Amino acid sequence: MKVLVTGGAGYIGSHTVLCLLQSNHQVIVYDNLCNSSEESLTRVQKLTGKQLEFVEGDIRDTTKLDAVFDNHKIDAVIHFSALKAVGESAQIPLSYYQNNVHGSVCLLEVMQKHQVQNFIFSSSATVYGEENDIPYVETMKLGTPSSAYGASKVMVERIMADQALANNKFRGVSLRYFNPIGAHPSGIIGEDPKGIPNNLLPFVAQVAVGKRDKLSIFGDDYDTEDGSCERDYLHVMDLAEGHVAALDWLNANSDFTGVEAFNLGTGKGISVFKIVAAFEKAVHKTIPYHVSPRRSGDLSAFWANAQKASSQLNWQAKRSLNDMMEDTWRWQSNNPNGYDV
Ligand code: NAD
Ligand code: WQD
Repeated sequence: MKVLVTGGAGYIGSHTVLCLLQSNHQVIVYDNLCNSSEESLTRVQKLTGKQLEFVEGDIRDTTKLDAVFDNHKIDAVIHFSALKAVGESAQIPLSYYQNNVHGSVCLLEVMQKHQVQNFIFSSSATVYGEENDIPYVETMKLGTPSSAYGASKVMVERIMADQALANNKFRGVSLRYFNPIGAHPSGIIGEDPKGIPNNLLPFVAQVAVGKRDKLSIFGDDYDTEDGSCERDYLHVMDLAEGHVAALDWLNANSDFTGVEAFNLGTGKGISVFKIVAAFEKAVHKTIPYHVSPRRSGDLSAFWANAQKASSQLNWQAKRSLNDMMEDTWRWQSNNPNGYDV
């Protein structure tokens, strides 16, 4: 298939592009590089020995986007592009709604104009909000996420549902990611956060490489086994393969129209203390840390019910926690400054 990948130069996008090329799909990446570097795509092409086309552009620039659809017969769109920092979304909510919600509408409009119906969206476990019990199941009513970032994901899921009601050819898949970590096992591509990392694993890895002094563990007084928060961490390569599985599913179900959501997670929660211990064991380094107050907006624990992806997409997260730690470290230690070489 010819697949347009928005946000394909970013962390999850670049790993997915690699898997798409390896599965013999043709790829056009459309990215404004606001949180990424074209170097990730250069490396993906070297790793796979295959070519992709890159267009630098913003999804809200519908003239440029339209030209891409004019120049290519696109079969499917995988839509990664978004702003994704939960804390920042409280400071500049309008930028988040503008980029994530308005940007998605622009993309769907151009798709509609060109009669492209296959749409795979990067959603998030955050759409379940605080209201739902764990583990999260796709049949649950969506919650009210505390952040503007989370709300933007709920809104795009709603927009997809409305679009499917209005257009009986629309074929949408919403992939609700849990906590992706790790890197390609080569250590050649990985996650390259700008500034101080917000997420746990990038921060741990930067402590290990000597870029940060110590980790703050946000709270040890939660109602969990060891008092720290529990999350469903999955390997980014498993997540990337989940997108190829979703494309295969769309192809195999040619009668399908509407929107279908799938959780992509392992189905298991792991605590922050356990993550730190697993990293130390895998890479033989000590991570200095201290316990600091809870981070506002953090839920104590959540993980996926991953049955639906297993039974319908034939997808399961198969890499181990040790793989996630070793691969994170290979990437971080070989590229202490990320893609800035
Ligand atoms: P990322 O920031 O590495 O990738 C996003 C990419 O989109 C970047 O390359 C950025 O330059 C691009 N982009 C942003 N706004 C754009 C615009 N207006 N036009 C064109 N390109 C634009 O983030 P990621 O971690 O790879 O996340 C990918 C997607 O997955 C996002 O939608 C994110 O919300 C979602 N998601 C991420 C996580 C996670 O923990 N990383 C979890 C759940 C969902
Ligand atoms: C994991 C755990 C922190 C950093 C976020 C978004 C979510 C999704 C994934 C996009 C938490 C603790 C963290 C640190 C810590 N993104 N932590 N010290 O918050 O589960 O999810 O990213 O959709 O929507 O909310 O991930 O990696 O930030 O935190 O103790 O320096 O690590 O409290 O328990 P989170 P995270």
